[in-house]
Amino acid sequence: MSKRKEFNSPTFAANPRFGYLPDNDKYLFRNAPPRHAFNVIGVGVNGQEQMLVTLLEGRATIHGVYDPNPGSIERARALFAQFAPGQTLKVYATLEEACNEPAIDGILIATPTYTHIDVLRVAVKSGKHILLEKPMATTLADAAEMVGIARDYKAVLQVGLQYRYKPVYVEAAHEALSRKSLGDIKTITILEHRMPFLDKVGQWNKFSKFSGGTLVEKCCHYFDLFNLFAQSRPTRVYATGSQAVNFKDFEYNGEKSDIIDNAFVDVLYENGVRANFNLCMFAPMFYEELILCGDEGRLKAWENEEFVAAGRPNSHLEVMCGLDRPSKVSTPCIPTTSQNPATMAAHLPSGSPSSTRSRASPAPPRPYPRASGQLSSESRPRRRSSPGSRS
Ligand SMILES: NC(=O)c1ccc[n+]([C@@H]2O[C@H](COP(=O)([O-])OP(=O)(O)OC[C@H]3O[C@@H](n4cnc5c(N)ncnc54)[C@H](O)[C@@H]3O)[C@@H](O)[C@H]2O)c1
Repeated sequence: MSKRKEFNSPTFAANPRFGYLPDNDKYLFRNAPPRHAFNVIGVGVNGQEQMLVTLLEGRATIHGVYDPNPGSIERARALFAQFAPGQTLKVYATLEEACNEPAIDGILIATPTYTHIDVLRVAVKSGKHILLEKPMATTLADAAEMVGIARDYKAVLQVGLQYRYKPVYVEAAHEALSRKSLGDIKTITILEHRMPFLDKVGQWNKFSKFSGGTLVEKCCHYFDLFNLFAQSRPTRVYATGSQAVNFKDFEYNGEKSDIIDNAFVDVLYENGVRANFNLCMFAPMFYEELILCGDEGRLKAWENEEFVAAGRPNSHLEVMCGLDRPSKVSTPCIPTTSQNPATMAAHLPSGSPSSTRSRASPAPPRPYPRASGQLSSESRPRRRSSPGSRS
């Protein structure tokens, strides 16, 4: 069935307000049946986000889940009941059963980072399409093994680095890489100021050996953006960081937390581009900022999850050029009937989620993402001042 052109949302169909309509009279409020089915392995914060995005986006459904934590399963069931009313969520007793389910096309892996390699080794035996959450791994040896696996894997094996699909960065990529509005990019600056790492099942994100460390676990998104905008490979890295404020007294099973909460990172690229990253994780906000300086212009973009009733926009993008071309200031966003742009629903690229992806690497930037996952005012989660898919 060809895609309808009218603005409609998969969540209109799920909105009980329109339940009075006879099936025959549903047009805008009728979804095409999902074409794909996925199982989710690990349904904590991110696995639930994967479920939500899949169900809202509508091209696929969630068939089942596997997670050893009963609380996570309970939450997954509640979410599924809300966004796939009348359908049944299968809960598996083992990872092997979940991965080898004949009814599914793909597997979404959202388990703690230190478990990725073990889960992936089982998942690839199924031969199914796989989305593995970022970061790939906590050690170089595991990452190298994954690259080896991906090289020979016949189906799609993709790592979930979705920040490059956020509206502000899609627009920034369009300006900087497609339109070349800035000329040749010379420097890249990214800043992330946010709250501390959230509580997790087993508190795995408080320990570098389980998460890979703060710069791997959280900041791989920004290094991915560095690579995107530099269009080159890094040759030198200089970094400092410390545990200045967060979790200094935190102990779990008698072990002290060892993760840093602030850092400065300098990266030099083969083509001469210089990149700098500034992290602070003891700020009462979720704020990130990108500045690109080229030889013909400067771009600044930011995204802000508002904690106060200040009425500011959540995003901003400005392109300042010289006299030869126009400058502009804008607010890239998706419709207000959608989720907060900080969540994955806003990062969905247009096109098929599976069949067109390169293996073990994110897809190239697309000029404009389709604003997916629009929610009706009744069924959408409230705009969050709580963390959404935050780690
Ligand atoms: N792409 C993003 O922006 C983004 C955001 C948040 C987290 N993540 C990534 O997602 C992964 C999970 O993070 P989270 O924040 O959801 O953690 P979490 O602790 O909230 O959830 C992890 C879930 O996996 C379950 N689990 C643990 N071991 C398992 C196993 N062997 N098999 C199946 N389930 C298992 C846990 O019980 C828990 O429910 C991490 O790799 C994290 O880096 C990505």
